[in-house]
Amino acid sequence: MFQEISKDMFYRLINFGPCVLLLSGDDIKTNIAPIAWLTPINEDPAILGIAIAESHFTSKLIRKTSEFVVCIPDVKLLPVIKFCGSNSGQKIDKIRKLSLKTEPGKKTKVPHLKDCLGFIECRVKDIYNYEGVNFFVSNVLCAKVKKGMFNNNIISEKAKALQHIGSGIFSVLGKRIKF
Ligand SMILES: Cc1cc2nc3c(=O)[nH]c(=O)nc-3n(C[C@H](O)[C@H](O)[C@H](O)COP(=O)(O)O)c2cc1C
Repeated sequence: MFQEISKDMFYRLINFGPCVLLLSGDDIKTNIAPIAWLTPINEDPAILGIAIAESHFTSKLIRKTSEFVVCIPDVKLLPVIKFCGSNSGQKIDKIRKLSLKTEPGKKTKVPHLKDCLGFIECRVKDIYNYEGVNFFVSNVLCAKVKKGMFNNNIISEKAKALQHIGSGIFSVLGKRIKF
């Protein structure tokens, strides 16, 4: 027996991907926002897709500079996710307000968070707009991860990365199963 759910909630059945903190802008003015709608598109060349509402300040900055950095937070950054997800960078400097430490970008002008599990620097290749949502198809320029958090090309069990289940409910990347 299956229970029908509202069609606009379809993604809640499949969207258990990571919740990331996306940094945009440049080294002078940097913005930060949590994003959960993202997907790898290809490994080689490395391509990432990310869906961001046109109305978000993040979308405007990415359209302006064509660059962004995906930072992978761990559970300790939940309060940062909450604050940055309910305040727009259009009105406040979230990085300064939360005293977040950043480090300069490697291949882009966008810095990354010092205290994250890893980060992926991206440059936009194509932009598609659907119903007021920008889908940024982007080349991955470089990816870095904290030492000890990536073993045999797999994110470590020690990495307490986050998944957004929906409605402010998160889970922490859990038990590994190998078969
Ligand atoms: C856990 C979480 C995940 C989110 N995922 C997305 C997303 O994938 N795409 C999006 O457009 N907004 C997403 N949001 C909403 C934005 O992060 C939020 O509107 C933010 O304040 C935008 O900030 P900005 O105006 O500074 O860009 C998410 C919010 C939270 C809390």
